Amino acid sequence: MRIGLIGAGAVAPFHITAASVLDGIELTAVCDIDEQAARRATAGTRAAVFTDHRRMLDAGVVDAVIVNTPHALHLPIAEDAASAGAHMLVEKPMATSVADCDRMIAACRTAGVALTVGHIQHFLPEKVAAARVIASGELGEVRLIRDNRSTDYRPGSRSAWFFSPEIAGGGALINIGGHCLDRSLWLGGGRAVEMLADTANRFGSLVETDGNMQLRLDNGVGVTISVISDPATRGDSMTIVCERGVIEVDPHRGTVVHADGRSRIEHAVDPAGIQQAFTAQLADLAAVVAGGAPTVPLAHARHVVELVHAAYRSAADGASVSFSRAGAIA
Ligand SMILES: NC(=O)c1ccc[n+]([C@@H]2O[C@H](COP(=O)([O-])OP(=O)(O)OC[C@H]3O[C@@H](n4cnc5c(N)ncnc54)[C@H](O)[C@@H]3O)[C@@H](O)[C@H]2O)c1
Repeated sequence: MRIGLIGAGAVAPFHITAASVLDGIELTAVCDIDEQAARRATAGTRAAVFTDHRRMLDAGVVDAVIVNTPHALHLPIAEDAASAGAHMLVEKPMATSVADCDRMIAACRTAGVALTVGHIQHFLPEKVAAARVIASGELGEVRLIRDNRSTDYRPGSRSAWFFSPEIAGGGALINIGGHCLDRSLWLGGGRAVEMLADTANRFGSLVETDGNMQLRLDNGVGVTISVISDPATRGDSMTIVCERGVIEVDPHRGTVVHADGRSRIEHAVDPAGIQQAFTAQLADLAAVVAGGAPTVPLAHARHVVELVHAAYRSAADGASVSFSRAGAIA
């Protein structure tokens, strides 16, 4: 499968390494409106450089693309790729609105191309280890999840487009909170039926820089997510409370299971884990192209976007938002 990477920014190296280590996959093109960024990304590869994704799609050099651009561009680029018959892995968030998620799914179905969404949490070894413990039944049912992430939304901390409500679709919650929603829904094993959220816009930012989300899932699991900008202590930790024990998941501390006064390390810290996850994520696209089911269901990726918007509505109204079982805001 010949891969074209569209958007050669911060996470491009992970996608490029993934394409270079997988059998049957080759990076043949990189496209960025910033030609120098595309050229830098192709160093050490034989990939062609493009500055317009439509020219890349027309050149007949790719079978699939990775859409790795600012959020509001995910949909139009995905639609162009689908029209050109290219399969695709779209970075998270799937799109900036639920309607755009639906348009993307419809375009790919109509064109008969594979679509996967880069919810990397599903592939990170320490999260996969937690999922394995939960699935084993050793600790009983999941009851509560606490998910804490720090980030940095001070001016200049990241590319300027992340601070545009139109282009990014929001701030810390759609960007970093999306990771927390992804993993909490997945490990919590349900869809949300209720959301209560608060946000803060600090540093004069047009998008939120911090936020809290409290969710109730349809299986009764309660989830508390907190995304905080620039605290003294940086963190990325999940605490999963099960009937007979507690699982703690942290990329810097590994996955630790504690039950009845005893702890064990289920998964040790592994600096190679992030690249492993990006590689597994691209292998998943290849498996979907071959007819398999995606590791991250499209309905899940769509639900994450739906929940971010529910959080914004809850924060604006100062009230919780309820969902019907079908997922639509009641
Ligand atoms: N999976 C993860 O852990 C993870 C981490 C960071 C970012 N992301 C996601 O990856 C995506 C990219 O984020 P980033 O941090 O790399 O952003 P970035 O700002 O570092 O890079 C974006 C790149 O896209 C290019 N670009 C803009 N418009 C384009 C167009 N029309 N055609 C081609 N290229 C274009 C820009 O020039 C820039 O080089 C976002 O969806 C983001 O949320 C995922």
